[in-house]
Amino acid sequence: MSDRKNIKTLPPVLKVERLDELNLGDLNDLSDATYAAIESGGGFGWLRKPERDVLERYWQGVVTMPARVLFVARLDGVICGTCQLMKPPPNNEAQSFSVQLTTNFVAPWARGHGLAKMLLDQAESSAAEEGYSVINLDVRETMTAAINLYEKHGYIRIGTHPYYARVDGNILKGHYYYKLIDPKAFKQEP
Ligand SMILES: CC(C)(COP(=O)(O)OP(=O)(O)OC[C@H]1O[C@@H](n2cnc3c(N)ncnc32)[C@H](O)[C@@H]1OP(=O)(O)O)[C@@H](O)C(=O)NCCC(=O)NCCS
Repeated sequence: MSDRKNIKTLPPVLKVERLDELNLGDLNDLSDATYAAIESGGGFGWLRKPERDVLERYWQGVVTMPARVLFVARLDGVICGTCQLMKPPPNNEAQSFSVQLTTNFVAPWARGHGLAKMLLDQAESSAAEEGYSVINLDVRETMTAAINLYEKHGYIRIGTHPYYARVDGNILKGHYYYKLIDPKAFKQEP
């Protein structure tokens, strides 16, 4: 959470939405938020800040790919957080009911307002609307805020990968989770 206790501002206006296209302002905010998340050690896979054009191409790619669904969080209209759903490829019929939740962060200045919870709610309801029954995700062992968030939100840990990531030369474990968003989908017919 940002430390602005002595600065008076209006109550924040919070919003979460799905984005299928990016305008220039949103692309700029999304890239700034990503840089802030990377600097604070939680910019999904990135450990160092990529060049601006690489980052902007990355986000443009996300909205172009049919297999990815992008959600953004706004504080007073400014994009400050995001997550994505990754759909299974069409050939993966056996796992066609599950989606992966990935690239989830809120920039440090916007944390503690409930935006991560709102992003999760929106991603889950969109996944359910599109007919998916399970959400899978994985997270580094060091991301305690995210681990609390997922566990409070009903995600069930199914295991820990001992060689999940390397950060500053240290090998980190990663925890794997799932959440059943449509339990009826797995009820056996009598
Ligand atoms: C995890 C993260 C997305 C939370 O964002 P946020 O907007 O501050 O979260 P919210 O305000 O919606 O809080 C939701 C819940 O998250 C958990 N949480 C958030 N910040 C926390 C903290 N600093 N310590 C412990 N739990 C925390 C709590 O369970 C909280 O529930 P509560 O309000 O009932 O206490 C943010 O801290 C972040 O981006 N971290 C770095 C990136 C990361 O770890 N991403 C996940 C990779 S899979």
